[in-house]
Amino acid sequence: MARQGTGSIEYGGITLPSLVHTDASVRYAHQSFQVRDSDVFNLTYPKSGTTWMQEILSLIYSNGDLTLSRSVPSWERVPWIEQTTAAEYLENRPSPRLITSHLPPTVFPASFFASQAKAIYTVRDPRDVCVSLYYYAKMSSFLEYKESFGEFIEMFAAGTILFGSWFDHVKGWLAYRNRKNFLLLTYDDLLQDLRGTILRICQFLGKDLDTSAVDTVVANASFEAMKGNKMVNYSLVPEDIMNQKISPFLRKGISGDWKNHFTPEQSSAFHHLYQQKMKEVDIRFPWDDL
Ligand code: A3P
Repeated sequence: MARQGTGSIEYGGITLPSLVHTDASVRYAHQSFQVRDSDVFNLTYPKSGTTWMQEILSLIYSNGDLTLSRSVPSWERVPWIEQTTAAEYLENRPSPRLITSHLPPTVFPASFFASQAKAIYTVRDPRDVCVSLYYYAKMSSFLEYKESFGEFIEMFAAGTILFGSWFDHVKGWLAYRNRKNFLLLTYDDLLQDLRGTILRICQFLGKDLDTSAVDTVVANASFEAMKGNKMVNYSLVPEDIMNQKISPFLRKGISGDWKNHFTPEQSSAFHHLYQQKMKEVDIRFPWDDL
């Protein structure tokens, strides 16, 4: 069941944590935010590689210079458009602005769809998203989930969870994948070939980095480097909000951890749901046959 009340807000049919969202902040993103043609969006359903892409984009636009990556938190360098800090961070920021969002297209800034702004949508195996979100819910006081993993899978599958249905989010954004200003990536692309995927991102963005700058982006976007960077590992967030002793924010950083968590019955039930929900999607993902 989606949490309602003090810990969350509802907007446009989705539930968001009230720690960093208000009705006004999401309404601002949806109805008032003016997208510029030069904006670059990092779009994800939560736990799909958002922070990873924040770091990659930030490093690419710094041409591999580490100053910002080592001195400014990732959420300030590539802020969420729907959070309460969006206007403060973004309105007067020079172009190109790097912007993150978990919003589905139904409540995305209207001005985006008529713009030349670029968007990268990163999608991850939903079973790994579910596992990652479960541990995140345990370590985050503001998410308030107390359910067992089995109950959590059911909420995730039904979409009665913060940020709404994974299926709706993914199918909603996949509808835009043939636009020339839209790049669809998977978490597995990044995992299997970080350098090659960073080069694809650079090409999509028209960023021509020299080899040593690319080397720096790759080295500093590795799981180990990000785990050790306090500007990206969320250790700046007080322990009463995120308790990394319960589970680190950068937890395992792998694909397929769901196999260590789903029972055969849960796995089979999710597989059937996935087949049914995704049947109209004519794209193959690396996890489709697993
Ligand atoms: P796990 O919990 O499975 O480890 P988001 O940033 O969207 O909240 O996603 C967080 C997930 O992305 C976590 O997954 C985290 O470990 C993973 N992640 C972040 N940076 C990563 C990196 N450089 N390499 C691999 N996984 C990374």
